[in-house]
Amino acid sequence: MGLNLFPCLLLCAAVLTVSGALGPVGNYWTSQSLPVLLDTHTQLLNAPLFRGQEVDEEHVGGSKTLCGIECQSVRPPMDQGEQERVLGYETMYENGTRTHTDVSLQDLNRTSAGTPGHSPARARRKRQVYGEDGRFVISDSHFITNYPFSTAVRVSAGCSGVLISPKHVLTAAHCIHDGSDYLEGARKVRVGVLQLKSKRRRGGRKVKRRRGRKENHGAGAQLEGEGKQVRLNRVGRSAEAKREPVFRWSRVKQIRIPQGWIQTKGSNSAVSPEYDYTVLELKRPIRQKYMELGVAPPVADLARIHFSGYDSDKSLQEGGGKEKVVYRFCSVVNESDDLLYQHCDAQPGATGAGIYIRRRREAGDAGRKGKWQRRVIGVFSGHQWVEMEGGGQRDFNIAVRITPLKYAQICHWIHGDPSLCKEV
Ligand SMILES: *[C@@H]1O[C@H](CO)[C@@H](O)[C@H](O)[C@H]1NC(C)=O
Ligand SMILES: *[C@@H]1O[C@H](CO)[C@@H](O)[C@H](O)[C@H]1NC(C)=O
Ligand SMILES: *[C@@H]1O[C@H](CO)[C@@H](O)[C@H](O)[C@H]1NC(C)=O
Repeated sequence: MGLNLFPCLLLCAAVLTVSGALGPVGNYWTSQSLPVLLDTHTQLLNAPLFRGQEVDEEHVGGSKTLCGIECQSVRPPMDQGEQERVLGYETMYENGTRTHTDVSLQDLNRTSAGTPGHSPARARRKRQVYGEDGRFVISDSHFITNYPFSTAVRVSAGCSGVLISPKHVLTAAHCIHDGSDYLEGARKVRVGVLQLKSKRRRGGRKVKRRRGRKENHGAGAQLEGEGKQVRLNRVGRSAEAKREPVFRWSRVKQIRIPQGWIQTKGSNSAVSPEYDYTVLELKRPIRQKYMELGVAPPVADLARIHFSGYDSDKSLQEGGGKEKVVYRFCSVVNESDDLLYQHCDAQPGATGAGIYIRRRREAGDAGRKGKWQRRVIGVFSGHQWVEMEGGGQRDFNIAVRITPLKYAQICHWIHGDPSLCKEV
């Protein structure tokens, strides 16, 4: 079961060109209005002990089997007080200080607080390969250090993450915290960004070529994967691609964890995968393009989800020290208010990777097709067995879905300014 190596990506891209159906065109993500989160009270907590246990992915739901899709969906809606509770958050600073912040929600009535209307999920096509490996190993220095692959970062605790601002990385909470305490790996967590070893710049020629590529980008075939981008990049390759990518590790200034992930004393409820997300704030901004956050649309409107990360398979480590990014895309099989159920192939190191979707921006004046826009709409949480209706179990890869409320919370963590978080 070898991974698809790079040449296959080109081939697959060609196949998709023929059969590809494009998702709905438009920029719906600029029109959604959102609740606003305000801090009401912050209190100091005891310093963490870092005795958290590494969470076995299949136990994120607390037991081996996750409450079924139906059961995830029909839980009574939370009232505003409960919503404010789970959207409160904990902050852990680099020096080990820990605080809890209560929040209040404004304008909740104006918006659809939960998921934008449930529509029956459907698997779009049968291209699903689950069992056979459908991942693409991207090892070309140029591709992995350029958007969108470059937004996939490594988290030193053994996970992946995605850059959602120059200073913020979104990843899975269970990489950092087990629901009761922080993991040892959270103590000095670092974020690794692949960058080309800097050498003398190669003057204006490079800049020119880059601009040319941008213009081409999106004007070509309609692909569902990122194959076209890679191919274009390949065309634009030059001597600069010989530079080796290396991880540049950044220190984390603070970690934010939603209260929904943290188990309160006395409650016997298990940690729930719906809140398996955390944001790491870096000490210093990273000067490269990040991927903006969005709200996950109903599955029926999703053509494909994509994510890239650092899967930890042995076979990937073979072949020398060259850094690689693993990319995949698939359709979502089912959904609940807070989770996306899919069969994208992934190995544990990819946990925490940013799930993103692509849309074309509306066409410009000249009738040109708009450029691709990408938004992070979920976090890859891991593999789970899920109870099915009428008995039996089925396994899925689960992603936390960014709902309007989670968007409001994460946006608040990034900006701290409600006026910047009113629209997606
Ligand atoms: C999605 O889940 C619901 C609830 O369990 C189920 O009725 C439906 O058949 C599932 N859809 C697919 C495509 O599996
Ligand atoms: C730790 O850092 C935070 C944030 O920078 C600061 O507010 C707090 O006073 C520091 N605590 C200690 C014990 O140094
Ligand atoms: C939202 O609506 C409910 C009932 O319609 C009301 O009780 C509540 O105060 C409203 N909340 C806000 C923040 O306006």
